[in-house]
Amino acid sequence: MNYRFFQETGLSVSTIGIGTNRFGHKVDQSEVVNIIDECLNLGINHIDTANVYAKGESEKLIGKAIKKRRHDFVVATKVGWPNDNDKAHGKLSSVNIFKNVEQSLVSLGTDYIDILYLHQWDDNTPIEETLKALKTLENQGKIRFVALSNFNPWQTAMFNTFAEHRYNFRPICIQSEFNLLKHDKYNEICSYLDYEKFDFIPFFPLASGFLTGKYSNNVIPNNSRATWATYMKDLFTEKNFKFLQDLEDFCKKFNISLTQLSLGWLLTHSNIPSVICGVRSVDQLQENVSAIDVQFDLSDLNSILRIHFDDIEMVP
Ligand SMILES: NC(=O)c1ccc[n+]([C@@H]2O[C@H](COP(=O)([O-])OP(=O)(O)OC[C@H]3O[C@@H](n4cnc5c(N)ncnc54)[C@H](OP(=O)(O)O)[C@@H]3O)[C@@H](O)[C@H]2O)c1
Repeated sequence: MNYRFFQETGLSVSTIGIGTNRFGHKVDQSEVVNIIDECLNLGINHIDTANVYAKGESEKLIGKAIKKRRHDFVVATKVGWPNDNDKAHGKLSSVNIFKNVEQSLVSLGTDYIDILYLHQWDDNTPIEETLKALKTLENQGKIRFVALSNFNPWQTAMFNTFAEHRYNFRPICIQSEFNLLKHDKYNEICSYLDYEKFDFIPFFPLASGFLTGKYSNNVIPNNSRATWATYMKDLFTEKNFKFLQDLEDFCKKFNISLTQLSLGWLLTHSNIPSVICGVRSVDQLQENVSAIDVQFDLSDLNSILRIHFDDIEMVP
């Protein structure tokens, strides 16, 4: 396994992490235990969850599975996604942050969270209220690092500046959608990432499984995400299948799989410390890990990307 530090921190994560939004919804406790055990075998230390995944079940299943090895993992969870229980207050109000973080600690069976993401910007709560709550939790030792998710560039810049200059802490990364098919969120923030030495964690790194190539013939395999996730229909376009075909031809030249290419390409970005692939089984985890040593010609790949997209920032 390879590891990278979040810039300007001593926090090191495996370049392949796991996304867990299916844990508790399609992945039961025994499979979660198998996946976590295999993470330990493979040296994977980065687990990404959220208080709302599978209505809180994801955190609980992870908590049971990591119980005896808590310190071997960097556990990231999130607060601030709209939640039926939180409607009376802003998503990032102090009351919601304190209540949900306490609940996450109980569910995860831990007394600290390594990375607490703010899941989404909150238009209603004054930013100072959110920052004060986070600083209190940091002082109490309940959270180690703060991170952002789905914030746009101005929200990110403003939040980080206030955090650093008024509250003396520095969020470490932004988590937003980014993969071989979808580049806008990364593009719009990438100059800020360079300037501030701020990192990016891509979600949907495999475009929900589309970039594994398993839907290549426009066939939906049994049990795959597309059998129930209606939002995936938007990916099934002639343009996307043509792009997949070009990528598959490229992969053949280098004897690698599309999954390896999709994850390996993300890892060519030096401001991406880790890729959190959603996994449903040990087999998927093992295949995803094989992306870490993958070799391919980046300039050839850039030529393919240029044919299909005019909005892509080329990795030098
Ligand atoms: N911050 C946010 O707002 C946000 C939003 C979304 C996700 N996330 C985080 O990002 C993580 C990753 O996103 P994601 O899981 O939604 O999407 P993803 O990583 O792009 O796709 C994961 C899905 O692809 C399939 N898959 C994975 N590895 C495979 C393999 N080797 N072969 C074949 N199929 C494979 C599995 O689905 P099937 O087997 O069921 O087809 C798996 O559930 C999430 O788990 C979550 O932690 C964050």
